Amino acid sequence: MVFREIAPKIYWVGALDFDRRLFDELIPLPDGTSYNSYLIQGSEKTALIDTVDPAKEFELVENLVKLKVDRIDYIVINHAEQDHSGSLPMILEFFPNAKVVTNEKCRDLLIALLHVPADVFHIVKDGDTLSLGDRTLQFLLTPWTHWPETQLTFLREDRILFPCDLFGFHLASSELFLVEDAVSLRSAKRYYAEIMMPFRNSIKGYIGKVRALSPTMIAPSHGPIQKNPSFMLDAYSDWVSDTVKNEVVLPYVSMHGSTQKMVDHLTAALIARGIVAKPFNLPRTDIGELALALVDAATVVMATPTVLFGPHPQVVYATYLANALRPKTRYASVIGSYGWGGKSAETIVSMLDHVKVEVLEPVLVKGIPDEACMQALDRLADEILKKHQEAGIV
Ligand code: FEO
Repeated sequence: MVFREIAPKIYWVGALDFDRRLFDELIPLPDGTSYNSYLIQGSEKTALIDTVDPAKEFELVENLVKLKVDRIDYIVINHAEQDHSGSLPMILEFFPNAKVVTNEKCRDLLIALLHVPADVFHIVKDGDTLSLGDRTLQFLLTPWTHWPETQLTFLREDRILFPCDLFGFHLASSELFLVEDAVSLRSAKRYYAEIMMPFRNSIKGYIGKVRALSPTMIAPSHGPIQKNPSFMLDAYSDWVSDTVKNEVVLPYVSMHGSTQKMVDHLTAALIARGIVAKPFNLPRTDIGELALALVDAATVVMATPTVLFGPHPQVVYATYLANALRPKTRYASVIGSYGWGGKSAETIVSMLDHVKVEVLEPVLVKGIPDEACMQALDRLADEILKKHQEAGIV
């Protein structure tokens, strides 16, 4: 890999991971990712902002060697997750006099996760600053911009924000700076859905704090650097808002075609009523795309056949995921087919305890959907339209 200067004496020294296809053994990475690490050379002190995934630690070291860095005074760790902190033990071996600058919670996690020695830390609190001579680092504690210990670092004189996970996205690209187009926006929204959406209410408060700093650049630890911060800040303001869209997400599984017929009928009924319908056949679904669809949708309808006495396990998985991601969805329902009974609808509804939804009357049918079932699905579509009209989104 090759280091690059992003501003005078400020370098990107991270690693691109074009091949990575899964994050946290959960999140698909269709475009790979990057682990961005930054070196800031002040007139008196040198600071490294975040490290890289341990799989790429030699690339970070190689960049520092190529830059002829012979001293690092501070290693700022904004987040303890290993894709950013995992190379810290190796960097400390190369620079044993460096202090690790972070908050108390992050220190505790670094000691637990990486066995970093307790005496290497310089602990900061919200608003604290650290001088590099002609440059000043300012720290903002922002819990739950992924984990409870997350913080942002702001380089005051250059007005560059280093927010680690927040405002980044998964993309391995040789282009250092963000191309502001629909593709980038979609990737960033998908990342928000997968990583940040559960913390929507916390992030709401942080956006104002970040705007107040008037950054000239956002340099996250995943994906390209943003020279126009308002591009991402405006997008985040929309995503974290309480505004929902006239959309219905339909995650489903069909084993023998009955639930598929119901999904097809409801999808057509919603479209006929002017509602955007987004069906996701779960065995063929990229869960990142499902998460993305959940960002704005006013309504979710889970559709499942009955396996033994409950919902299909893939629908259970999607429901668990949707509940964990805490989208701003307002209405939910369940449709599906069964053979001899079961409690699919009750099971799914009981799993949605983290999502504040109004449950609309489920539609369940024994065997192949008949005319009465199709009429019930039409009534569900009518009910969804009525709710969306009441919400003022139609
Ligand atoms: Fe990119 Fe939460 O780690």
